[in-house]
Amino acid sequence: MIKLESISKRFDAVQAVDNLSFTIDRGEIFGLLGPNGAGKSTSIAIMCGLVSADSGKVELEGLTPTTIKARKKIGLIPQSIALYEELTALDNLNFFADLYNMDKELKDQRINWSLEFVNLQDRAKDTVKGFSGGMKRRLNLAASLLHDPDYIFMDEPTAGVDPQSRNKLFDSVLELKEFGKTIVYTTHYMEEAEKLCDRVAIVDQGKLMALDTVDGLIRAYGGESQVTVQTNQGLEQFESTNPAKDLVKVLQDSVQLEDVTVRRPDLERVFLNLTGRQLRD
Ligand SMILES: Nc1ncnc2c1ncn2[C@@H]1O[C@H](COP(=O)(O)OP(=O)(O)O)[C@@H](O)[C@H]1O
Ligand SMILES: [Mg+2]
Repeated sequence: MIKLESISKRFDAVQAVDNLSFTIDRGEIFGLLGPNGAGKSTSIAIMCGLVSADSGKVELEGLTPTTIKARKKIGLIPQSIALYEELTALDNLNFFADLYNMDKELKDQRINWSLEFVNLQDRAKDTVKGFSGGMKRRLNLAASLLHDPDYIFMDEPTAGVDPQSRNKLFDSVLELKEFGKTIVYTTHYMEEAEKLCDRVAIVDQGKLMALDTVDGLIRAYGGESQVTVQTNQGLEQFESTNPAKDLVKVLQDSVQLEDVTVRRPDLERVFLNLTGRQLRD
């Protein structure tokens, strides 16, 4: 479990994180959803013990994140790719594994497992500079898993990734959850939060705006569905919390239904309703 209590962090004029409190449960995929500059990366850096908060308290299984004991439980895939372009995939992983002081046998075993996990075993001996954006992301993920951490922080892992690699990455996230890992996933794409996350924290300007399951957020803050009905009498649009019931009202005696679309509220609408702004810049 990760626990944040009233965490704040300011950089000069910018309040990057503003009195953030929430708890991340073991084994869940926890999403931090917010636009660029919302404070997602700063929050992650604080949870991983890389940046110290100005005030508040953060604990990972009761440990302070800066301690070695806590660090061993943390795997971080940073927003910007951290790899040596001139080295092969294997040499990169060897380099990172050496930071964890593993014996040779365990090291080789973990490197093989990680390469296989991200499906790069065939490219182990190739230099990273020839890799696609998606392959680099996957290798970055492999590097963060070498010491078998329980808590995996993924900071905008799909940035610069082609659709095929993105799907592979989603599968990897779900697989890690099956292994019992806890995943903290930041994104400004609502589709990713909707697809992957057990619970989503919506953040804006360093503040927690809402926290719940995707369904819970949509129910609480999504508002009404937008219904568009084409009949032989013309086009009609209305908002409704119960589209099926309201549709029946439109379809009186001589009215013939030709087409209907129901646009249910999504996280984009939730964000708009909570902040008055769009999620995308
Ligand atoms: N090291 C830093 N120095 C100064 N400002 C920073 C620093 N890191 C982040 N910020 C600012 O803090 C705010 C939050 O940034 P960040 O946590 O990176 O947001 P996000 O990851 O949601 O895009 C932004 O306005 C950013 O410019
Ligand atoms: Mg960021």
